[in-house]
Amino acid sequence: MRVLITGCYGQVGSSLTEQLAKDTNTEVLALDRDSLDITNQKAVNAAVTEFKPTIIINAAAHTAVDKAEEEVELSYAINRDGPKYLAQAAQDVGAAILHISTDYVFEGNKVGEYVESDITNPQGVYGNSKLAGEIAVSEACSKHVILRTAWVFGENGNNFVKTMLRLGAAQDKLSIVGDQYGGPTYAGDIANALIQIAKRIEQGGAIEFGIYHFSGLPHVSWYEFAETIFDTAVRQGLIHKKPSLNSITTEKYPTPAKRPSSSRLCTDKINNVFSIEASDWKMALNNIQAYTG
Ligand SMILES: NC(=O)c1ccc[n+]([C@@H]2O[C@H](COP(=O)([O-])OP(=O)(O)OC[C@H]3O[C@@H](n4cnc5c(N)ncnc54)[C@H](OP(=O)(O)O)[C@@H]3O)[C@@H](O)[C@H]2O)c1
Repeated sequence: MRVLITGCYGQVGSSLTEQLAKDTNTEVLALDRDSLDITNQKAVNAAVTEFKPTIIINAAAHTAVDKAEEEVELSYAINRDGPKYLAQAAQDVGAAILHISTDYVFEGNKVGEYVESDITNPQGVYGNSKLAGEIAVSEACSKHVILRTAWVFGENGNNFVKTMLRLGAAQDKLSIVGDQYGGPTYAGDIANALIQIAKRIEQGGAIEFGIYHFSGLPHVSWYEFAETIFDTAVRQGLIHKKPSLNSITTEKYPTPAKRPSSSRLCTDKINNVFSIEASDWKMALNNIQAYTG
């Protein structure tokens, strides 16, 4: 297998690169933004033509949800145009593309879990640009898998776990949004899921290309997620005392971008088709020390 990874220093990109480095049967070309800016179509074509990947995994994205409200053009360039160039290049060399998308393509008013065929209705620029990326990828490359995930945290990069641990070390009291629900997802588990899918594609045989949901269980609110982070940190001896947590409504914590109040993703399809289990985010948190850097 020959895998080209973009955005290799991001949360998911770095996990992918780390995990694939251990696989002696795989040739990996892991490129960061400086080595391959995915919005540069010529550079994308050159990298793909030269390396001739059998699988392209796009882990590059503009993920700053609030900033995206102002950086509209940049969001669409990175989240729609870049993925489209990668997908076109994949199609040209006969490769498959694995592309990562988001729970924020949904409005968030569904009672229960979102399945892949549910109607999308993004509430902000980030979600809209990611949805445009999904469409562009699916139109440009016949062999595509779009993995929608949510609430990503990993050892590398910025995320909610790191923010909580940093704020908790400095403040006795924290107010956390308690009326938005989703599935925290460990970046290492996303990388593992993508690698399993890549290997299945590489084996040949019939593959059900298309959209898959992959996120963590159990679904919780941000407030409940924070509770678990601090309980784990106390249990693991990382901190002596848990800060006092106050559950607040979204209304009390206004942000430039509107977020879905529920983006619980149903992971049955990926489980049925690829035998991939939902991310066990509580287990990933047990290594709490890893999120302090
Ligand atoms: N983070 C979440 O909570 C979350 C939730 C749902 C879905 N997702 C999706 O999951 C995927 C991975 O997210 P993540 O959390 O790993 O993101 P991340 O940590 O923000 O990493 C994204 C990477 O993409 C790079 N990048 C940005 N623009 C680029 C460009 N033009 N060309 C090449 N690389 C570029 C960034 O480099 P710089 O740092 O140099 O800009 C960064 O290394 C994304 O598709 C995201 O939309 C994330």
